[in-house]
Amino acid sequence: MTPIQAKRRVQAKRRDGPARVAIVGAGVSGLGIGWRLAQAGVGVDVFERDRAGSGASDAAAGMLAAGVECEPGEEALLALTLLGRQLWPAFRDELEAASGLSVGYRDEGTLVVATTQDDARRLRFLTEFQQGLGLALDWLTGSEARRLEPHLKPGIAAAVFSAADHQVDNRLLVQALKLAFTRAGGRLHEGRAVTGLLAQGGRARGLQLGGESHEADAVVLAAGAWSRLLPGLPEADQPPVRPVKGQMLALAMDPARPLLERVLWAPGVYLVPRRDGRLLIGATVEEQGFDGSLTAGGLYALLEATRRVLPAIEDLAVAETWVGFRPTSRDDAPILGPGRLAGLWHATGHHRNGILLAPVTAAALSDAILGRPAMPALAGFGPERFAAPARPLEAAAGARP
Ligand code: FAD
Ligand code: GLY
Repeated sequence: MTPIQAKRRVQAKRRDGPARVAIVGAGVSGLGIGWRLAQAGVGVDVFERDRAGSGASDAAAGMLAAGVECEPGEEALLALTLLGRQLWPAFRDELEAASGLSVGYRDEGTLVVATTQDDARRLRFLTEFQQGLGLALDWLTGSEARRLEPHLKPGIAAAVFSAADHQVDNRLLVQALKLAFTRAGGRLHEGRAVTGLLAQGGRARGLQLGGESHEADAVVLAAGAWSRLLPGLPEADQPPVRPVKGQMLALAMDPARPLLERVLWAPGVYLVPRRDGRLLIGATVEEQGFDGSLTAGGLYALLEATRRVLPAIEDLAVAETWVGFRPTSRDDAPILGPGRLAGLWHATGHHRNGILLAPVTAAALSDAILGRPAMPALAGFGPERFAAPARPLEAAAGARP
């Protein structure tokens, strides 16, 4: 232990917070919480069975789309996603300063286009719902949309522009969090699978790693879509989280002449242009458990939906294809807060919003673990809201891939 780490540990003890925290999973949730705790002087170990980001965090599109992704039934979640969106610029500044890395944050906004009159009617309905919740969205004609994005196919029926829905490069985000966390004194253990939760005397005492035990005063469950599979979790603390599969691909644009400047949503697809020229195309939403296969049907549907709005993609090379598993809770909202077992904390279930919610997750969980007052926006997102046993989809997802 370095002298700085030793001093931080003493400071943490003085505040009555836990001196040692062990975190399962090095996605944006685990690393973000770990970073905040390490900054506060806590001794933090993050255990990742593969490499940091290898779960959903590298697979994501990086949209910070609190506005256009808000659907009927998600009114309660909106307060949290809007807080995520609001916290992002300061989080980015602090993270970039701490890591010395850019996270590729882009603020050109998001455009949603309708290709037919039927689509336009559906878009009008959704937009009025979103505007009714106070979201600032501008209704555009097809030609106004094409003035913003000249490569759009002629004949777009209508569009909506959300100036406040931005994007970040989620893979750069993982790298920056890794660096910020370790620079703050945290220890990242990649290639270390957690094989069990250690509990004794009615509280979490640490983690089992094969034949080795790692003792801790508190344990954070941030294992994404795999969270309910951790051996040793008491039944009452198995979060109702299942994998929701997403297939995606990236095409290679000329970075000097990109086909898009903004994030674009069209029927059946979204497109995210990166500064390095990659055009991300996503994503399927499939209840297939941990089936990691890329399918002709999935990729074809994404490409066909893209070609209908952006025909110039036909000449682009395919740069990459991949599958990710969204950690989806029973009500599609994150599970953030103390478990029934003392010393166990849940940070999972972020579904389609874990990148957007990364700043909130990091702040909320670290505040709670350190005994600081809870953020009001967090009320209602604790694990205690799921009192009933797991439903069939979650039970079926119980088979480890
Ligand atoms: P993960 O990133 O999955 O991390 C969990 C980690 O735990 C994994 O690395 C895993 O290997 C590790 N782990 C599991 N079990 C163990 C164990 N026993 N021992 C050690 N390690 C273990 N969100 C947005 O906000 N915007 C988007 O545009 C967006 N697009 C998406 C597109 C797709 C295709 C997908 C799949 C997701 C998307 N998401 C998006 C959602 C977002 O990616 C997730 O909500 C977020 O990454 C969850 O982060 P996490 O750290 O909680 O989980
Ligand atoms: N938020 C985009 C996705 O989950 O596909």
